[in-house]
Amino acid sequence: MRHLIDPTDLTVAETEQIVALAEDIIANRAKYSEACRGKKLATLFYEPSTRTRLSFTAAMLELGGQVIGFSDANSSSVSKGETVADTVRVIRCFADIIAMRHFKEGAPLVASQYAGIPVINAGDGSHAHPTQTLTDLVTVHAEKGRLFGLKVGVVGDLKYGRTVHSLLNALLRYEGNSFVLISPRELRLPEYMLQAIKQKGGKAVETADLQEYMSELDVLYMTRIQRERFSDADEYERLKDSYVLTRDKLGSTKEDMIVMHPLPRVNEIAADVDKDSRAKYFEQVNYGKFARMSLLLTLLKDGGASGETKLGGTLTQKSCPNPRCITNAEPSLEKLSIFDGGTERCAYCE
Ligand code: CP
Repeated sequence: MRHLIDPTDLTVAETEQIVALAEDIIANRAKYSEACRGKKLATLFYEPSTRTRLSFTAAMLELGGQVIGFSDANSSSVSKGETVADTVRVIRCFADIIAMRHFKEGAPLVASQYAGIPVINAGDGSHAHPTQTLTDLVTVHAEKGRLFGLKVGVVGDLKYGRTVHSLLNALLRYEGNSFVLISPRELRLPEYMLQAIKQKGGKAVETADLQEYMSELDVLYMTRIQRERFSDADEYERLKDSYVLTRDKLGSTKEDMIVMHPLPRVNEIAADVDKDSRAKYFEQVNYGKFARMSLLLTLLKDGGASGETKLGGTLTQKSCPNPRCITNAEPSLEKLSIFDGGTERCAYCE
């Protein structure tokens, strides 16, 4: 049984197989049109989404399968207090695979322990968004021809931005990639991510200036300042327009640099950039459907009926200080930390 909770749940070889399969699907659509006939995907979305949910839906339909689920937690028994564990024990009676988005960090990991069918993390709080990462890897590979030796600028909300955390973790596994971390001081990359970059021998510089390294970049990955992650509305108002990419700011960039964005955008990319050949964010959405088709095929091929699964590693009982962690929302969950590479972290949300 395979799940996808974090991008690094897949080995580099498996990731590359998924990217290659996505590219084969793009080239041979008809070959895959019945590949998931008789299979059902359940999309359990506790948090709003346009791209991820509809992309999963389109992916399963294009593979000949069917889709059930909810797009609003208030329309499910979650609103009556049902736990994630109980919800997925029910869903496994109806579906072959689950894609879950949740505002609590670690919720898809909890789901994977109880579902007995493959679980895909479709975004959990500010923790991880591995299918966006697969989307981004397919985009970079298709547009740049490689996943190594790239200078990647990531811009905006690096503190809460799960797409950035997942993408950095994935690109750190390839030789020669280096990162420019562009954010206001208040939204710097979390310390555990900076440590992860250091431990993996990655090269990264931090700056608050969008233009400082622009001419050196192969990929410029813009992100939104996310209103929904702020507890202080005044701080959001102060930071929301920290970076606005306009076409004139692209003047100093390489001709073949690409601009990506997981979307939705608010103000951070001006409409005049859309016309520039370097703008790839709408192509990126399309690549995302093929990345998810490839992932569904891969996990359904590997997954069979299975019982409940347990967390691995050296575990100790310890409360998590993160208020957004699922263990602080569902008291019945055991609070566990894990020792990993000499550091201790929450087994669910870090
Ligand atoms: N990129 C992304 O996750 O978009 P949605 O929130 O619309 O799914």
